[in-house]
Amino acid sequence: MSLRGRDIISIKDVTREEMLAIFGEATSLEPYARSKIDVLKGKVMALLFFEPSTRTRLSFETAMKRLGGDVIGFEEPSITSMAKGESLMDTVKVVENYADVIVVRHPFEGAAKAIADAVQIPVINAGSGALSHPTQALTDLYTIWREKGRIDGLTVLFLGDLKYSRAVRSLIQGLLNFKVSFVFVSPELLRLREEVREELREQGTSFVEATSLSQELIREADVIYVTRIQRERFVDPMEYEKVKGSYKLTMEHLRYARNDLMVLHPLPRIDELDREIDKTPYAKYFKQVFYGLLVRMALLKMILT
Ligand code: NCD
Repeated sequence: MSLRGRDIISIKDVTREEMLAIFGEATSLEPYARSKIDVLKGKVMALLFFEPSTRTRLSFETAMKRLGGDVIGFEEPSITSMAKGESLMDTVKVVENYADVIVVRHPFEGAAKAIADAVQIPVINAGSGALSHPTQALTDLYTIWREKGRIDGLTVLFLGDLKYSRAVRSLIQGLLNFKVSFVFVSPELLRLREEVREELREQGTSFVEATSLSQELIREADVIYVTRIQRERFVDPMEYEKVKGSYKLTMEHLRYARNDLMVLHPLPRIDELDREIDKTPYAKYFKQVFYGLLVRMALLKMILT
């Protein structure tokens, strides 16, 4: 299956069959994750990052280099002509003359879509606003699929900032291609937005919501997906003060966990995940980082060849 020339703007653009094809490709590229294969020789990827990033930017860059391609771009728009007042649309129309694919992260919700509409080359959304982060969702889905051998039939518990996390929102939408049970645990102020709950209901998917982690909820979980509070998205700083430090997954919680529970986190983490958990077999968040590299290698190869 090819994704040749495709934009990846929302996880909803990717079908279940395409996801499974991406997973297959990611697995087959694993031998090259620490070496090189020249399948994208002569291709150029432009990274346009208007927001902080460590993993997403470096994993795209590494992915392109492992596949033999070249990388251009910036992570600090203040050093580009945008500082002189050049518009985002002019900037991307210039960049499309230099590159074969654009990977963009932007604080505005619709930025990636607007760029994709403005240029002829494929655009990959590396995070836009609080709504969408499709390549993180593919990473998370692949991690579950690789580690558990399936996604259907699992119970996925989300813990954290369900209101502002684009990783959470995209993963939920991705999981809707599979038959999973959803559990959402968050402080009341960070509850999943009504429009996402509505999306779940429309699909006939039932879900459980709670404001704290009970033994029962932990016992039933196959996956616990933890996120940090997305401080930069709060409109009102007082609202952030109210929820700061209000939840944390600890070793005490994991006493009730299934043996094969898997704890995921898109990272960066602040204080919501006890570092003691790193030493347990439940912790899969650094493995998740590696799988993110494989998924981005697969995407670039499938879009550009
Ligand atoms: C996520 C993001 O940027 O949305 N980070 C990432 O890409 N791994 C999650 C976060 O910032 O909390």
